[in-house]
Amino acid sequence: MSHFQITGGVPLRGEVRCSGSKNAALPIMAASILASEPVRLEGTPRLADVRTQTRLLKHLGVNVSQVEEGMIFETVDPAPIRAPQRLVRRMRAGFCVLGPLLARRGKAVVPLPGGCNIGHRPVDLHLKGLAALGADLRLQHGYVVATARRLTGTTIDLSGPNGPTVTGTANVLSAAVLARGVTIIRNAAVEPEIVDLERFLAALGARIEGVGTSTLRIEGVEQLGGATHRLIPDRIEAATLLIAAAVTGGSATVAGVVPAHLDAVLEKLRQAGAAIEVGVECISISAGRRLRAVDVAARPYPGFPTDLQAQWTALAAVADGASRVEDRVFPGRFMHVAELNRLGAKITCGNGAAMVGGVRRLSGARVAAHDLRAGAALLLAGLAAEGRTTVDRIHHIDRGYQRLDDKLQQLGARIERVENQPWNSTIPKPVAASFSEASRLASGHASRMASSR
Ligand code: UD1
Repeated sequence: MSHFQITGGVPLRGEVRCSGSKNAALPIMAASILASEPVRLEGTPRLADVRTQTRLLKHLGVNVSQVEEGMIFETVDPAPIRAPQRLVRRMRAGFCVLGPLLARRGKAVVPLPGGCNIGHRPVDLHLKGLAALGADLRLQHGYVVATARRLTGTTIDLSGPNGPTVTGTANVLSAAVLARGVTIIRNAAVEPEIVDLERFLAALGARIEGVGTSTLRIEGVEQLGGATHRLIPDRIEAATLLIAAAVTGGSATVAGVVPAHLDAVLEKLRQAGAAIEVGVECISISAGRRLRAVDVAARPYPGFPTDLQAQWTALAAVADGASRVEDRVFPGRFMHVAELNRLGAKITCGNGAAMVGGVRRLSGARVAAHDLRAGAALLLAGLAAEGRTTVDRIHHIDRGYQRLDDKLQQLGARIERVENQPWNSTIPKPVAASFSEASRLASGHASRMASSR
């Protein structure tokens, strides 16, 4: 029921620190099931998906405690192997418990996942990989039932029609670390979040060669220990904040980042005319004048991330000139376009791309977030728009950003979170003068009369 109210047109200025990575935290939390000793994760972001993953792990017999720097996970035996549908349906990364449960406990019952509304999201590659390791897999009443006395190493290719799979790599890798013998994963995802998982597993005692590359050689071990691991910073959050500064013609510094993770994005921002300065752990952006339109195609890492495609489309909507924003990872991920057009953008889409004609100014309106990154794009557009923008369905944004509104406020944005109000309570109600006037209003007669004037 909560929504954001934004008064646009204020150039953002100042410095803000980014949180730990959501997409690193979720599969690493799932992989803590593999550890025989406690795991301490530092830098876990405080956001809804992490809370959902925590509830899922508790349900699966993992003791989870919050500490100042992050979280501690400790698996207890004997432990349940059935993941509840209500949690996995809410968040796709819940499916990442499949590989660890199967490898550690010999059986897993995990529902087919839900998650963001960004188009067709199969899990065939996850299942193909686990089957190749010797798992018996059946689909029963919407659940994947996987069993294996002990998994056995083999060679697996994880490339799909749109590139490698990120959480599929997490699932298969997390299973292979306890398999008998050697597993070779070809076309593994190389996203920084997967590399973080590889480092975490290595810290637990897994034997992985080729960390950070698309070919992994894993020598299975009997048992893994515990570890303390600090998560990488959230590159998507960092870039969202940089684009927020750019779209308002402001200048800002985002601290606590790994700049190399954002090479493709920084290159596009430079091409668009923003001044970028890169420090050891920070990035500064300055966009004093209107940015130029630049074509972008989202691809697997190290390409431009699909998780920033919507935010870039918001930037392109107010850039000088026309551009094409393509998504080769999720070609149907353009739910934000209709909402951006409500704010006055000129965007058409088809064939996995948006054709954006930049306008000088957007104008504030009431819009709704349909998925996580689409929601972020609407906030950015609202910051650039003239007047007031209301963004509804912000639970999508809270799933994946740790208080994005607070961070934007730190940069001077005029954004307010309005809690627990019915969706229509901010729409002024017509004041009826009499009973007959009231029934005329209720029947829609008055609005027909008004529009015919
Ligand atoms: C992860 C990220 C998500 C990001 C996406 C792409 C997490 C928790 N989520 O999602 O934020 O947008 O990577 O960077 O880390 N595919 C198949 N078969 C499969 C699996 C995927 O064909 O079994 C296809 C998908 O439809 C898509 C492409 O592969 O076209 C990439 O999807 P994938 O990398 O699996 O995305 P997720 O891991 O779900």
